[in-house]
Amino acid sequence: MEYANLLLEKNGSIAVLTLNRPKALNALNSDTLSELSTALDELGRDSSVKVVILTGSGDKAFVAGADISQMKDFNSMEGRRFGQLGQATFRKIELLPQPVIAAINGFALGGGCELAMSCDIRLASENAKFGQPEVTLGLTAGFGGTQRLPRLVGTGRASEILFTGDIFDAQEAYRIGLVNRVYPLDTLMEEAQKLAKRIAGRAPAAVQLSKSAIQRGTNMDLDSAVAYEAEVFGLTFSTQDQTEGCTAFLEKRKPAFEGR
Ligand code: HXC
Repeated sequence: MEYANLLLEKNGSIAVLTLNRPKALNALNSDTLSELSTALDELGRDSSVKVVILTGSGDKAFVAGADISQMKDFNSMEGRRFGQLGQATFRKIELLPQPVIAAINGFALGGGCELAMSCDIRLASENAKFGQPEVTLGLTAGFGGTQRLPRLVGTGRASEILFTGDIFDAQEAYRIGLVNRVYPLDTLMEEAQKLAKRIAGRAPAAVQLSKSAIQRGTNMDLDSAVAYEAEVFGLTFSTQDQTEGCTAFLEKRKPAFEGR
C-alpha cells in the first residue's frame, strides 16, 4: 500500500518503516498516526517480515513530536481523541508480533521520544536529541510518555525529564538506559540492519514469543508473568524450529530455521 507520510520498504525478512514529513521534522499529525496504524496492521499480517526498523527521513530528525500546528486549536475532546489515537497506535508496536528496532537518527522529542519508547530496542545516532518538552508548550506528554518513561529510566529521572522539558543528548540517553547503543549517524542504519539480520536469523516463533512474554509479562504480577512464560516456553515445543535448534546444537552444526 502507498502512504503519503510514510515509506515502507521490505527487503527479505526486514522491513524499514520511515516517517516521512522531513519539512516538519517528521512531526506526527493525525493523518500520519492513522497511516502508521495501518502500516503496522499490514506488517503484523506479513509473516515474511521478521523484524521491523522504524526511523525518520532526513538526517536531522527521528520525529520532532506531535504536530504543534494541528494541536494548537484543539478543544479538550479533540485533544483527548488525538492522544488516544497516538496511544493506540504506539501500543500496536508493542503488540506487533515482530520486534521493532527504533533507529533514532536525530530529534526524538515529545511524541517522537514516546514513539521510540514504544519500540523494543532503541539505537541512536550521536546527533540524536531527546526530551519531553510538552510542559514548555503548556501540555503534558500524551502518547504514553508519563507511563513508559518511568518504566524505562525510573520515576526520579522520568520526573526530572517530564517536569523540566529539558533536551538531552544521545550519550545522556545511553547513560540513563533510554537507548541501548549510540553510533555515528552515517553507520546507524547499517548497525540497525546488522542487528535486525541477527534477530531475523533466530527461530521466528521463539523471538516472537519472547517479545510477547516481555510485553505482556511486564504488565502482570510476577506469579502471573512467570506462569505466562511457562506457557510460552511450552509452546515452542510445538515448533519444528525447536527440534531443529536443539538437534543442530547436539550435532555441532548451525541450525537451519524455517519458521515452522
Ligand atoms: C510541527 C514542527 C515541529 C512539531 C518542528 N516543526 N517540530 N512542526 N510540530 N513538533 C517544523 C518547524 O515549525 C519548521 O517549520 C520545521 O519543522 C523545521 O523546524 P525548525 O524549528 O526551523 O528547526 P530547528 O531550528 O533546527 O529546531 C529543531 C527543533 C524545533 C529544536 C526540533 O523544531 C522544535 O523545538 N520543535 C518542537 C519540538 C517539540 O516541542 N516537540 C513536542 C511537541 S508536543 P517551518 O514551516 O517553519 O519551516 C508533543 C505532544 C505529544 O509531542 C502528545 C500529544 C497527545
